[in-house]
This record gives sequence, C-alpha cells and structure tokens, in this order.
Amino acid sequence: MTKKNLDWENIGFQYHETDKRYIANYEDGSWGEGQLISDPNIVINESAGVLQYCQQVFEGLKAYTAKDGSIVTFRPDLNAERMVQSAEGLRIPPFPEERFLEAVDQVVEANQDWVPPYGTGASLYLRPYIFALTPVIGINPAEEYQFRLYSTPVGPYFKGGAKPITLTVSEYDRAAPRGTGHLKAGLNYAMSLNTTVKAHEDGFDENLFLDAATRSYIEESGGANIILITDDKKLVTPKSNSILPSITKRSIIYLAENYLDLEVIERRIEFDELENFTEAGLCGTAAVISPIGKIVNGEQEIEFSNGMNKVGPVIKELYETLTQMQLGVIEAPEGWIRKI
Ligand code: PLP
Ligand code: COI
Repeated sequence: MTKKNLDWENIGFQYHETDKRYIANYEDGSWGEGQLISDPNIVINESAGVLQYCQQVFEGLKAYTAKDGSIVTFRPDLNAERMVQSAEGLRIPPFPEERFLEAVDQVVEANQDWVPPYGTGASLYLRPYIFALTPVIGINPAEEYQFRLYSTPVGPYFKGGAKPITLTVSEYDRAAPRGTGHLKAGLNYAMSLNTTVKAHEDGFDENLFLDAATRSYIEESGGANIILITDDKKLVTPKSNSILPSITKRSIIYLAENYLDLEVIERRIEFDELENFTEAGLCGTAAVISPIGKIVNGEQEIEFSNGMNKVGPVIKELYETLTQMQLGVIEAPEGWIRKI
C-alpha cells in the first residue's frame, strides 16, 4: 500500500478522481452483478430519465483511518437504509442494503491509498447513487437504472475549519410540507443552487431554510441539520417531515443523552426563538458539527453568546466525542463502526 502524495491537511471539499468505482445495473426487473471499474465517465442516452426529470437519489458517508491504522466506516447500514427510503420516494428500484454495504467495503478497499492518514482531519468521502439510465419522454419512471459508488478524499466542508460559520435565511424554500425534503435526491439540491450562490455572494457560508407553509419555523441548511443548545444544557433540534433525517444528528442525539447527560428535545422551533439559545451547530457527514456564530434574517441578526471567534463548550464536546468515536480513539456504541 502506497498512500497518494496529497497535501491531506489542505485538500478541501472537492472531487478528486480515485482509482476504482463500483457499478451495478438494474435491467429486466432486477439488480445485476456488481463490479469494480476504472472508468469515471458514463455514456448514457440523451433522454435518460436522470437527464430529463432528475430521477436520481444519493447518499454520502465517509471512511476514516482509525488511530490503530485500520480503515473504518461509520454507520453505513443507516445510509443503506435511507437510500432505500429515498429510492421508494422517487419510484427507483431500491438497491439491497446488504449489497450496498458490500459495495462500500469493496470501493474503500480498492481505493485504500486514497484514504487520508489518521490525524490529518481528512477522510475518504463515499458517494453512492442510483440514477435512471434509459430514455423517457413522458413523465414516467425509467425501465433501467445504475447504482454507482465512487470515492474522493475530502477535508472540512467549510473553509476555515472549526471557525464558527454565518448563515442567512433564504428567501426561497427548500422543500414543500408534503414534498421530497426528507429524501436524499439530487433534485432537492438543484433548487438550492441559486440561493446558495447568493448567500456566498452576500458573504455567508450557508443558507438556513424556513418551513414553506408558514415561514416561521426553522428547518435546516442546504446540506446539514441544525442543533441548538440552551444555557441549562438542553439540546433542541427541529422536528419536521421535510428535513433530511441526518445520521449524524441521530448519532449526536444518542451521544448527548448517553454521554453528555443533556436533555434532548425534538420540536418545531420558531425563528424568533433563536435568540434564546447559547450555542448552535450544523451537523452532517460533510459538515460534521460546524459551529454557527451568527444567523441573519434581513435586518435581524442573532449572534450566539459564544460569538464568532470560539466554539461553545457543548458543541465542542459533542464534536470531540463524535469524531473520536469515528476515529477509534474512544469506543463507539455497538454496531456503529464497520471495519473494512
Ligand atoms: N440535511 C441535508 C439536506 C443533507 O444533505 C445532509 C447530508 O447528508 C444532512 C442533512 C446530514 O445528513 P447525514 O448526517 O446523514 O450526512
Ligand atoms: C453529506 O453531508 O454527505 C451531503 O450529502 C451534503 C453535501 C453538502 C455534501
């Protein structure tokens, strides 16, 4: 094994072409044999369902070099399960969960030279997805699909590492109350591109979306859930049918209750309540736990009491507990770590 010669501490969050990817095709009503291939390019029909009506779902998870040198993934079974739910929501044939896990193992093993070394803060991001291959022109699901899983080494999602980020409330909505917001489908991200670029142009790191029905409750950002901390040590996080059920957040909730002795409350949270919280963070596979310093909504500015320059103590402890489990420094609950 010869590690690639990358500047691991500074790779950023971007695509690097790695050696192998896994593909399996769905034809005649069933998923065929999978295989590892070298070609990163795909040739498809000009009217493929994915190109016309965005029939695609995806996942995101990471492989890490643990402290003992082994390579591990974090709760990949939950990504496999969520991808089934996303697929069902878009009339895509679900990829069997066991096969998803085998594909993860195979891709990580075949690209182990690309798994960033322990201690660099980087990881190998895995991107499984399913897309409609065959032509459609009427609004119908396609007949054939491809499951593909590639990998790319990544560093922190937000530039500046652990520095608190700033959010702005988007004037657009991410998801309708009975729409697709709870599914991990590319279409949810296409609609956020315009408002994300605008947020960046205005000097913010990310958008915060409000509920589309009333625009008074907070939902999530374009690529992560939000957690809030009170000064009497409660973790409060939005309950909504139109946000993505984050695996990172589900893990944080468990850690908060069982390791940090926090009370966890999932409920609707009004934007106007935000000033009552002392700490806030975005959480997700890419975001890990990124502390939020400030949220701006037009003229209204909410600065969390821990401010823009340092990370609050509860967010810090949650971050350390989570990342040390992912890296095998402290033992994770049973079944959370899958060794390659
Ligand atoms: N919300 C959205 C919209 C996301 O894209 C993601 C990223 O996957 C998350 C939340 C966080 O989910 P997870 O923790 O499973 O990565
Ligand atoms: C992830 O965290 O895995 C996502 O899919 C979100 C995206 C911002 C990369």
